Amino acid sequence: MTEHAAQSDGAPRIVALPGDGIGPEIVAAARELLDAIGSYEFEEHPIGGASIDALGTPLSDEVLAACAAADAVLLGAVGGPKWDSTDPAAPRPEQGLLGLRKGLGLYANLRPVRPLPALIDSSPLRPERIRGTDLLVVRELTGGIYFGHKERRGDVARDECVYSVDEIERIARIAFEAARRRAGEGGGGRVTSVDKANVLETSRLWRETVTGLAGDYDDVELDHLLVDNAAMQLVSDPSRFDVIVTENMFGDILSDESAMLTGSLGMLPSASLGDGGPGVFEPVHGSAPDIAGEGVANPLATFLSVAMLLRDGLGDAEAAERVEAAVEGALADGLRTADLHSGSAGQRRVGTTEMTAAVIAAL
Ligand code: IPM
Ligand code: MG
Repeated sequence: MTEHAAQSDGAPRIVALPGDGIGPEIVAAARELLDAIGSYEFEEHPIGGASIDALGTPLSDEVLAACAAADAVLLGAVGGPKWDSTDPAAPRPEQGLLGLRKGLGLYANLRPVRPLPALIDSSPLRPERIRGTDLLVVRELTGGIYFGHKERRGDVARDECVYSVDEIERIARIAFEAARRRAGEGGGGRVTSVDKANVLETSRLWRETVTGLAGDYDDVELDHLLVDNAAMQLVSDPSRFDVIVTENMFGDILSDESAMLTGSLGMLPSASLGDGGPGVFEPVHGSAPDIAGEGVANPLATFLSVAMLLRDGLGDAEAAERVEAAVEGALADGLRTADLHSGSAGQRRVGTTEMTAAVIAAL
């Protein structure tokens, strides 16, 4: 996997896809942040429900082409009650996101989970449980049950789960290489592969394939966990994990669970990468329609996604570190959006605008 360096001579081109719910608020905040860091060219397009309303489809061919031609894509969130339907024929906002991942070949989804010192008290888990947690979820993103054949016939429905050796190998290599890189930075050098090999055939192929690759990575320790056990250990002993590699749906579920180790789902960033083309960078939290438009959304997962965009998308590690340090700075100063506010002394409850201004000031 190579980073996608700016192709044009001018400023890097970023396509912003605000999407639905709080998406537009947090993406606007991220644009302010990026404008304070350097010079970037922005193009904004609809995706998800906003695109269904404007264009009748959750992802138009033109928007997908614009994303493919960009240096990086910054996404807000998609979905909301307005478009919720169980009718298989109705367009769904989520199809826009899935189409974007598939269309750009973004098979590797990276979700780093590192509780910031200032937020140790914000997690529903006890501080002594989560202290020392520093893990990376590597989620396969373009295969499995998400993309298999789907069918509804009368009162029977079916979702097929398919994986090939090639699909498993390429995501496993990303995980092994990440573990190797993290070991170089003082990390654990460990990969935990998560599956359900006691029940699923795709999981047995997964386990066999990952085990087969381990010989190429003698310096990395590999273990296997069944997904139910992994879910349990993530809350009972999160610091045992270094890199978790897993298939699409298990990764979806385990990453939301892991997010709570950081205090709030509002803190978790992600990068979706393929081979060579632009990556998509987005917060893991959803569109939070219940608080949309109220100015209280936590923009920090999006800012941390901007840091990943700068590092993994544009190859600018220095700017990425500035953003990460500024986020920590604002939190260390006691600023908390509603989702992070625990009422302890020294905390000040702020909205999106104030948090954004504080992070920019701390740059
Ligand atoms: C995520 C989200 C998406 C997913 C939804 C919105 C389709 O939950 O990025 O984790 O399931 O992949
Ligand atoms: Mg999810």
